[in-house]
Amino acid sequence: MNHPSPLAEIVSTGRYLPDCVVTNDDLAKRMDTSDEWIASRTGIRSRRIAGPEVNAAIMGAGAARAAMDEAGVDPGEVDILILSTATPDRWLPSTACDAQALLGCGNAVAFDLMAACSGFLYALSMAEGYLCTGRGEVALVVSTEKMSAIVDWEDRATCVLFGDGAGAAVVRPANGSSRGILASHLRSDGHLANLLYRPSGGTVEPMDADVLERRSHLIRMEGREVFKNAVRSMAEASDIALRRAGLTAADVDLMVPHQANFRIIEATAKYSGIPMDRVYVNLDRFGNMSSASIPVALDEAREQGLIGDGSIVLSAAFGAGLTWGAMVWRF
Ligand code: UT7
Repeated sequence: MNHPSPLAEIVSTGRYLPDCVVTNDDLAKRMDTSDEWIASRTGIRSRRIAGPEVNAAIMGAGAARAAMDEAGVDPGEVDILILSTATPDRWLPSTACDAQALLGCGNAVAFDLMAACSGFLYALSMAEGYLCTGRGEVALVVSTEKMSAIVDWEDRATCVLFGDGAGAAVVRPANGSSRGILASHLRSDGHLANLLYRPSGGTVEPMDADVLERRSHLIRMEGREVFKNAVRSMAEASDIALRRAGLTAADVDLMVPHQANFRIIEATAKYSGIPMDRVYVNLDRFGNMSSASIPVALDEAREQGLIGDGSIVLSAAFGAGLTWGAMVWRF
């Protein structure tokens, strides 16, 4: 079967996870919840939480260093650093510039990309476009999320779902190789923004004592609506991306979906026709790390030998915006 010729390939991956493990039982000591509720509704058993000294730039730089070491890339060789985050360390400048300074990537264009949980796939697609138009040889895609800083720890329906962490990938032009991004499909729908958002704290309703009092600068989510949209959108995007790649579900060696909820993953895999023994799951250990979930999972799956030379990998993501998408790679 003829596959499209890839324009860019992931040559290495890396991850950074904070040391502190917080279990469901730990949370149950602080709020009205239980391991039974969280595990049965979501599949999550624990998550990592970064301490005050560890911010998004530090986690991102940690993941990026691991990816650059594997690829044998020096900081000065990086032409573009795209950092996806929903939890920037500051409003100005970008967290990408802080990570660039930490890494010493002095020749890189650096900027943040905000597409929530879909950020890694969005950023890869931007890197692919930059590289294939000849503007650089090395792209560093970093997804880093300190979700613990933006969840409302008084809202048990959302705070138990998220965790902190970072993942990264070094991307290069495919230069005629058969490895790389075979196809992708990315979409967004801002009409559904209020299903998952932070109502205040930006320019629409700047931070003040009233916002703090109402806690409206923190995440608010309509869980059930998000759930329904997530399954539908990820399944549809996976289907389109596979079709564009000239492949079917049977060709997929591993699916690496966004890790929001085990039931969402199961339903998406079922719709896509991919059995669960070919789906990578780590949300039991890390919860939902927004855009960091996919690159952390990819890095673990490569380390475990689940992705090898020639493996066909399908990834699908969904998140605030709403944003969603899918991508197919040959490794
Ligand atoms: O990256 C994308 C981001 N987000 C997502 O993907 C989230 C998608 N949505 C979901 O995963 C699910 O909707 C949740 C896991 C968030 C919630 O599951 P649900 O089955 O939709 O539960 P629910 O929100 O309808 O709540 C059911 C009950 C409620 O009690 P009542 O009203 O039935 O008495 C909640 O108050 O569960 C209660 N509840 C909890 N109980 C114990 C909500 N959170 C908790 C909790 N512990 N942490």
